[in-house]
Amino acid sequence: MKLRKITALFSALVIAVGLTACAGTTTETTTAEGTTQATTATEATAAETTKGSGLITVGFAQVGHESDWRTASTNSVKAALSKDNGFDLQFVDCDNDSAAQLEAVRNFIEQDVDYIVIDPIVATGWDTVLTEAKDAGIPVIVLDRTIDDSDKYVAWIGSEFTNEGLAAGAWLQAYAELKGIKELNILVIEGTTGASAQIGRTDGFKKIADANGWNILDSQSGEFTQDGGQAVMESYCKSYEGKFNVVVCQNDNEAFGAEDAMDAAGVTYGVKGDVILISFDSTKAGLTELLAGNFNSDFQCNPLQGPSLADLLNKLVAGETVDTKQFMPETWYVNEPDLKSITYTNVIDKSVTEDLVVVTQDMIDNAQY
Ligand code: AHR
Repeated sequence: MKLRKITALFSALVIAVGLTACAGTTTETTTAEGTTQATTATEATAAETTKGSGLITVGFAQVGHESDWRTASTNSVKAALSKDNGFDLQFVDCDNDSAAQLEAVRNFIEQDVDYIVIDPIVATGWDTVLTEAKDAGIPVIVLDRTIDDSDKYVAWIGSEFTNEGLAAGAWLQAYAELKGIKELNILVIEGTTGASAQIGRTDGFKKIADANGWNILDSQSGEFTQDGGQAVMESYCKSYEGKFNVVVCQNDNEAFGAEDAMDAAGVTYGVKGDVILISFDSTKAGLTELLAGNFNSDFQCNPLQGPSLADLLNKLVAGETVDTKQFMPETWYVNEPDLKSITYTNVIDKSVTEDLVVVTQDMIDNAQY
């Protein structure tokens, strides 16, 4: 067992003894976000000590395996929550099935794991099961996507999806101005309906589209998969033949499928083509398409949350206060060097100017996913 772990368990024991000695009084630790979460963290510590196992048991209900991004997320969590790092990880791939995900969480509660981690397929339908976890004294951590209808979890680590959509819109606005493109007729391939990644990217992009009077011809779900993206794009190519000049795909895999469909329909896209192709995720394969000029821009969503998750769990075990919201660092990638930055009003109504990074082969070679 690592020294860090021994120290963590020792701190946990001290706090648990403290809690027993102070029974009848209220223990509160102040955090930046308030005291509720800190109290939950203290409860988690007590639960961990009473179970007394050397490893921290964690049940992780993962969305599925729909995309390269998802595989990277799974690998990141598995590597960080390894036995060598002091964790016993129970991993469930929920295959994009919300009922299966709720069942996985209930199974974790029944197994009495120390912590539950959920990457919610959809943003709603969570309050009942989170109440069950809370009643069972099992702290829940939310990863990547958000939960909108319950606050019964300790912390969240992930991406600000609405900002990603806003950034994509702001880039398109600046790009169209630069190239003198007066009319934008846009087709959107959304992610899984009801997922916060789909909701945020759709809303953020639409806000800029509406402000500029762009024409969103259609917006359908491609389920965040390559096959889904291809099927939607095949139908778009038939229904909107010759009528569109922008395609927005809400992840790289959908964009690969859209490329196949446009190739088959004889539609040209990318830096030298007739259609501007925008994507999200910035996977190694996505950045490769960007460097080749087949995508025009790719807005990163960072799946490497494992180390932050492990750190957060260790802090909870140690009874330390934790950040209740942690945003992953992200980069906006482009192919052409002309535009250096974009300025837009972000999700908290603050004007921000963010750099655009021109992709290089070195970046692709060093990309971790
Ligand atoms: O929730 C993150 C999104 O889900 C990623 O953009 C996508 O690739 C994944 O499937």
